Amino acid sequence: MRTDTVDHPLAATLLSTMRDARTDNATFRNALADLTGILMYEALRDAPVVREPIDTPVAPTDGIRLAAPPLLVPVLRAGLGMVYAAAELVPQARVGFVGIARDEQTHEPVPYLESLPADLTGLPVFVLDPMLATGGSMRHTLELLVARGATDITAVCVVSAPEGVAALAASGLPVRLITAAIDDKLNENAYIVPGLGDAGDRQFGPR
Ligand code: PRP
Ligand code: URA
Repeated sequence: MRTDTVDHPLAATLLSTMRDARTDNATFRNALADLTGILMYEALRDAPVVREPIDTPVAPTDGIRLAAPPLLVPVLRAGLGMVYAAAELVPQARVGFVGIARDEQTHEPVPYLESLPADLTGLPVFVLDPMLATGGSMRHTLELLVARGATDITAVCVVSAPEGVAALAASGLPVRLITAAIDDKLNENAYIVPGLGDAGDRQFGPR
């Protein structure tokens, strides 16, 4: 599985703000949105484009547009904080939704929402979820997408655990990972260490 870790001082400062336990919900949300923009720049670096003639106020020239507007899929709740920033960069994108909450005892994904186009054949898909921990939630999401014909899928995550990266690689599912950090490990509660805590709670408050 291709994995790209974004190495940029601005990404690192935004991630530090998110990691800091003193950061309030609003500041956390703003940092997540700004960091999502940087991750999406990297995620779209090799996106196919088409040229089309345009006129500047001075002369004709070649314009560029994305060959295929992508589908953005935030994984609720935490992925919600990434979707507007991503859509601002790609205004022609469509948006689908997946809702999953981990069971706190088993750490298994418990899906509760699925709102996706029926046919994803030929569509580039960007899954937005700040946290890749065990990989269970991402794997479930990827299986939903592949069942609809998606073959070009990028997972955009802020913090990843080595266990989650290994689980995705072992799954054989067609996915590329863009992340701001691969942390040390999971703890006994399957939280990422050092991580940033519960990304949903840090944006929206505890459930
Ligand atoms: C978090 C996170 C991922 C998942 C990662 O969501 O946003 O979706 O955990 O864990 P995993 O890799 O072990 O599956 P959570 O289940 O806490 O729900 P929330 O977004 O509603 O807070
Ligand atoms: N989900 C989170 O929000 N944080 C973690 O560290 C692991 C799963």
